Amino acid sequence: MKLLKPLASTLLLAAMTVSFTAQAADAKRGRVYYRMVCTVCHMEKMGGPISPSSKKKADWASYLQTNKHAKGKDTVKQYFSKEYRASIKAKNQAAAKYAEVPEAELMDDVKAFLSAGALDSDTPTSCD
Ligand code: HEC
Repeated sequence: MKLLKPLASTLLLAAMTVSFTAQAADAKRGRVYYRMVCTVCHMEKMGGPISPSSKKKADWASYLQTNKHAKGKDTVKQYFSKEYRASIKAKNQAAAKYAEVPEAELMDDVKAFLSAGALDSDTPTSCD
């Protein structure tokens, strides 16, 4: 019994570490997805990118939360969905690479990237 207790707490600690790691947003993955999926279409359809520094952190958070895209014509969440990734993966490497990432995780990653480059961040990012 004396040995079991430390073992149990070690296991608990390990499990907590794993779940914390899984929850931490991956801004690098977010950057790749934003540039290769979101920006590619903005370049094509709007003739230019939308910079992370075009909004403040809180505005990006509420933009994604409100879930209205293209002046409310559609939703922003659809562009994070597995269905959307599947529909473009033949031509889009990021969509293919992240085909199986849960939608909410990918959105958190992009949010982390946009936040890190937002107007009121330490490193406002102007181009794509
Ligand atoms: C298939 C093309 C396409 C994809 C993919 C796309 N967008 Fe857009 N987006 C547009 C177009 C077109 C507009 C401009 C609409 C207008 O001004 O009428 C736009 C506008 C925006 C705007 C400006 C505000 C607004 O909603 O009008 C933001 C912010 C934005 N997109 C974010 C994103 C993000 C984040 C992603 C990726 C998860 C994304 N978009 C993916 C086509 C796309």
